Amino acid sequence: MKITLNVWRQTGPNTPGKMTRYEMPDVNVDMSFLEMLDVLNERLIEKGEAPITFEHDCREGICGSCGFMINGKAHGGFPKTTVCQLHMRHYKDGDELFLEPWRAAAFPVVKDLMVDRTSFDRIIQAGGYISVPTGSAVDGNTILVPKSSSDRAMDAAQCIGCGACVAACPNASASLFTGAKIAHLNLLPQGQPEKMDRSLKMVTVMNEEMFGSCTNLRECEATCPKGISIENIAIMNRHFVEASLSHRPAAAEAGAG
Ligand code: SF4
Ligand code: FES
Repeated sequence: MKITLNVWRQTGPNTPGKMTRYEMPDVNVDMSFLEMLDVLNERLIEKGEAPITFEHDCREGICGSCGFMINGKAHGGFPKTTVCQLHMRHYKDGDELFLEPWRAAAFPVVKDLMVDRTSFDRIIQAGGYISVPTGSAVDGNTILVPKSSSDRAMDAAQCIGCGACVAACPNASASLFTGAKIAHLNLLPQGQPEKMDRSLKMVTVMNEEMFGSCTNLRECEATCPKGISIENIAIMNRHFVEASLSHRPAAAEAGAG
């Protein structure tokens, strides 16, 4: 089938970008979306042109690397699907597609469809860890965890850090990502020693990284390829307020409270 691609091309963070049109006259419906881009890149290289830069790693929907806007929708807009899980059979002959990188001040464009998501790493570094030695699997299993808590924690832990929630949010808020990472650890016994510090520090870093505020629009939840619930934003807000009120020294250090 024939597909027309309009791809955002930008050579670097400080250069202007523009849409460039590419005709793909012979797309196989069995190709994945990224395989189709691989074919286009082979052709560009053969012509002596620069290939399109896009991120990917696992190509199985579990690493969070891939991700850009397709026709204005993060990851293409199909339910619980990352870009690497898209196939060309999702599209029809003659379709015209527009490919753009995530748009957020906190995710500056590196090149073409690739953005710098190290702001997410800095949020994780602020508190996304535990200090409790959990030992081997046997030791770990001696810590009793209520089923409801483990279920909610595991649901939150499914976040792959792709950034689609930020890209879909009109405010470019990172609340769903940060909420998932805080809830994942705060809901488990192993996460309790740092619960207060974690809640204060991760929210503080999120605010410092130029992400916008959450105004409960729920675009993040609707777009998330892992179905992360906005319940995690409520958990984050509740734990942040609790920590701000009861954890004064760390709150002052983190600039909150
Ligand atoms: S919350 Fe969902 S959309 Fe946001 S980074 Fe995690 S997996 Fe991606
Ligand atoms: S390449 Fe890993 S989630 Fe898509």
